[in-house]
Amino acid sequence: MTPTISTLLYLIAGICFIMALRGLSSAQSSRSGNLYGICGMVIAILTTLLSPAVAKYSGIMGGIAIGGAIGAFIAKKIEMTALPQLVAAFHSLVGLAAVFVAGAALYNPGAFGIGELKAIYTVSLVEMSIGTIIGAITFSGSIVAFGKLQGLISGKPLIFCKQHLLNAFLGLVLVGLVVLFAMHQQHSIFWIMTAVSLLLGVLLILPIGGADMPVVISMLNSYSGWAAAGIGFTLNNHLLLITGALVGASGAILSYIMCKGMNRSIINVILGGFGTDSSTTSAVAPETSDKPVKQASAADAARILGKAKSVIIVPGYGMAVAQAQHALREMADLLTANGAKVRYAIHPVAGRMPGHMNVLLAEANVSYDSVLELDEINDDFSSTDVAFVIGANDITNPAAKNNSASPIYGMPILDVENAKTVLFVKRSLASGYAGVDNELFYRKNTSMVLGDAKKVCEELVKAIKG
Ligand code: TAP
Repeated sequence: MTPTISTLLYLIAGICFIMALRGLSSAQSSRSGNLYGICGMVIAILTTLLSPAVAKYSGIMGGIAIGGAIGAFIAKKIEMTALPQLVAAFHSLVGLAAVFVAGAALYNPGAFGIGELKAIYTVSLVEMSIGTIIGAITFSGSIVAFGKLQGLISGKPLIFCKQHLLNAFLGLVLVGLVVLFAMHQQHSIFWIMTAVSLLLGVLLILPIGGADMPVVISMLNSYSGWAAAGIGFTLNNHLLLITGALVGASGAILSYIMCKGMNRSIINVILGGFGTDSSTTSAVAPETSDKPVKQASAADAARILGKAKSVIIVPGYGMAVAQAQHALREMADLLTANGAKVRYAIHPVAGRMPGHMNVLLAEANVSYDSVLELDEINDDFSSTDVAFVIGANDITNPAAKNNSASPIYGMPILDVENAKTVLFVKRSLASGYAGVDNELFYRKNTSMVLGDAKKVCEELVKAIKG
């Protein structure tokens, strides 16, 4: 295949990826978005395989078979609720791949068309360094993020004195190493640069608290894209450049949107350590709280819902854990048939990944028209009879508005408290992801319907039918 044809095919693959991103931006078009992505990837892989630079197919085919089998196995097995850590683990591989490709180019520059051993073009050395630094930071940072999300490392922010100064110092060291590497081309400098970047990746993510991990994952996603783009420059590979820039830019935009959604500063995220200071955590152990709590049985809740003219359902992580979306839809259908206006309110960070709730509701065939974002529906709680909060907690917690010492302070919340009645469906009074007690549980207009979300919904369906 001539270089012109392969460039053209890479361009077509790049267009497919752009269409994929466009499709994935809304639930309605996400299937076609996925299809575009698959087509783009098939074109990209075939074009690469047919390139004259490929001398032997055995290694590549072996890699595709092993990697493909592992990927298919994980995709089949993975629980929806464990997707964030899976994404973090996959990002780490992208970062590691960038470091390995740069290393291969350093040891065999002729094969990559970037000069000869010890006589690599300066511009290639700089590109290689940038790809390696971002790749190594992405790798170690993603491993730490994986460990935190999986519970292998404490989700609490690990903060020590002069952390930012140390990070800034390491950043300067890296700049110096890039200059030295570009001047002397020594392999040892390349590996020292990689080691310092790995350390920086760990130090950037360690101080970030659990509540802020969604933004971190999206930021690491962006970093992995920029690492790929950097290596695309080194290899003069247009596809890597396009896809790297797409992933880098879309990850950065998503991070920005999430930062806005959580009222965090994007600059702090990029620099790391913007997480909560452990000293500011003001969680009260909920179980030890002696405040009175109003409880309701499923039958009581069914009576309240049966009388409601308007209901807003607020799903959260617990709905995903319980896989309650189908029973929930059945319940909502019954209420609608009963004459109630039923809508769903989606918080930008409900659940454990962007769009988590939208995916589950779409799976249960909930109509897209009744699913509304925070901005679209938040003012309507005050004119709503029942806010039905199912497996959600942090995203409704007023501490985000009125307790500046709270780790979630500043995060916009769904104002469920303004509804006439708030029904909380969860198993206990335990806190959510951020580990903060929710004062709404003790409010007069709140009734706790304690139990597994799916079971409660099934009981409600029975009771409403009855
Ligand atoms: P959370 O605040 O984590 O609350 C979920 C609640 O679900 C828990 O309090 C838990 O209480 C309940 N629950 C768990 N299993 C249940 C079950 N089987 N049946 C009924 N209830 C169950 O969730 P949220 O309100 O969706 O907020 C999301 C949080 O996750 C935010 O803090 C956000 O920052 C963070 N986060 C979000 C993302 C993204 S991108 N969405 C990624 C990582 C982290 P019980 O134990 O009492 O049942």
